Amino acid sequence: MNVAERMARLGTESAFEVLAMARTLERQGKEIVHLEIGEPDFDTPEPIKAAAKQALDAGATHYGPSAGLPELREAIAKHTGESRGIPVSADEVVVTPGAKPIMFFTILALVNPGDEVIYPNPGFPIYESVINFVGGVPVPIPLREETGFGFDLPLFERKVSKKTKLIIINSPQNPTGGVLERRQIERIAEIARTFRIPVLADEIYRQFLYEGEFLSIAGLPGMKDLTIILDGFSKSYAMTGWRLGYGVMPTGLAEHVTRLMVNSASCTATFVQLAGIAALQGDQSPVARMVAEFRGRRDLIVDGLNALPGVSCQRPRGAFYVFPNVKALKRPSKGIATVLLEEAGVAVLWGTAFGEYGEGYLRLSYANSEANLSKALGRMRPVLERLAP
Ligand SMILES: Cc1ncc(COP(=O)(O)O)c(C=O)c1O
Repeated sequence: MNVAERMARLGTESAFEVLAMARTLERQGKEIVHLEIGEPDFDTPEPIKAAAKQALDAGATHYGPSAGLPELREAIAKHTGESRGIPVSADEVVVTPGAKPIMFFTILALVNPGDEVIYPNPGFPIYESVINFVGGVPVPIPLREETGFGFDLPLFERKVSKKTKLIIINSPQNPTGGVLERRQIERIAEIARTFRIPVLADEIYRQFLYEGEFLSIAGLPGMKDLTIILDGFSKSYAMTGWRLGYGVMPTGLAEHVTRLMVNSASCTATFVQLAGIAALQGDQSPVARMVAEFRGRRDLIVDGLNALPGVSCQRPRGAFYVFPNVKALKRPSKGIATVLLEEAGVAVLWGTAFGEYGEGYLRLSYANSEANLSKALGRMRPVLERLAP
């Protein structure tokens, strides 16, 4: 079958590819430690599961409104307003199956062929993939280790032009675990305001912050009308498989994004949305417990990686990823990741899975038990000892 030309422009997310490779090795009897996939290993808190079961029993098994159930949109508006310090109304909220469609729909709705989009690199691979898919021009801003993986502001200022139709930021970040500093967010906001450029703020890791206060660009003066907040339930409530996310955006754009929902998924599963209300309105202590646990794991993996030959690793301030520098091994990072999977039975991602500026790094997700993290570090040592010059 001949596929349409545009398919050649669509990228992928390597985490799912590596997961498939690891599963193949597992079927062959090999034991793998999974540090490739970005999902909490915790189970969804019990009250959220109970709410879903109750909703199913009460008959919430039919289509719902494309933008989401009014009561969930209300709950999200309240939650987003309180956590970002801005007034948010329910008609500014669009609920989607996972947060990923918000990226896809926002870029589809705002970017014409030839328009430029600024985005972080290394960054979540779907940004670049979808920019290319719609015929936009990806304008990567390298995140450099020397600046704690912050935005290179002087370069950013040089890259913004009349052609820039969207700026994408992500903090705390995937894959580096870096967090944008206040002064960086303020400068990005100043430029966005001056040139009236919308900002897609991917805040999915907002709760996974180990130092300092979270700052949303949407809360800065004049920014609410220019910001699309992307957030969801996957990470904070350990609900990756439920597929529940949302965007908060000006109502004019929300209507277009809703139309994209009508044209694609129709709506998000109704009983899942009712469970989402329970998540937002219920006891938040499981989130805090999970984040506290992740902080301990972060320290374990950072210290362990820094003790391995050829590896140096910063202590990230957010998310649940580390992005160790393996340049001393003098090999492409994809090759190192492959050897680690095949010889050490440790599944990790290579930095270039997140863009060209990720070369020389690996990405490890530490959303795994301390026992497994220690096991992975122990197994990596002999392989890296062999690879180190
Ligand atoms: C930066 C970033 N944004 C968005 C998402 C998408 O989350 P969801 O599972 O809700 O679609 C992810 C998932 O890995 C992510 O890392």
